[in-house]
Amino acid sequence: MNILVINGPNLNLLGSREPEIYGYDTLEELMMWLETNPISSGHAFKFFQSNHEGELIDTIQDERHWANGIIINPGAFTHYSYAIRDAISAVEIPTVEVHLSDIHNREDFRQKSVISSVCKKQISGLGKQSYLKGLEVLIK
Ligand code: DQA
Repeated sequence: MNILVINGPNLNLLGSREPEIYGYDTLEELMMWLETNPISSGHAFKFFQSNHEGELIDTIQDERHWANGIIINPGAFTHYSYAIRDAISAVEIPTVEVHLSDIHNREDFRQKSVISSVCKKQISGLGKQSYLKGLEVLIK
């Protein structure tokens, strides 16, 4: 499969951003770990991170003919970006929403995802394993 892995705002700071919540791996280390995991073998990956909503949407659109699976951690956009939700819905590519932290056991505003209804599954709270589980859902 061709898997597009998208990370949203502030995830570029992984490793130093609230590591007790998000872990000590940098985004690059995490993505490298995902790509080199035995489960990833035989699949192609593209990685994209942006702090900007429009760039995330542009990437979903631009890669729609290449990707046949998307793993997305939309960061805080999870909770309010109808535009990202609509982009995922528009391209009709199987998508899994992932989160490092357990969004259901944090602040109230994190409990709601406007993205999950257009995704095959939401995986939350498993740290970097959330990405791997997301991959498993797509390749199954
Ligand atoms: C996050 C959870 C979001 O609520 C938060 O805004 C993030 C990261 C996670 O991976 O746990 O930026 O998506």
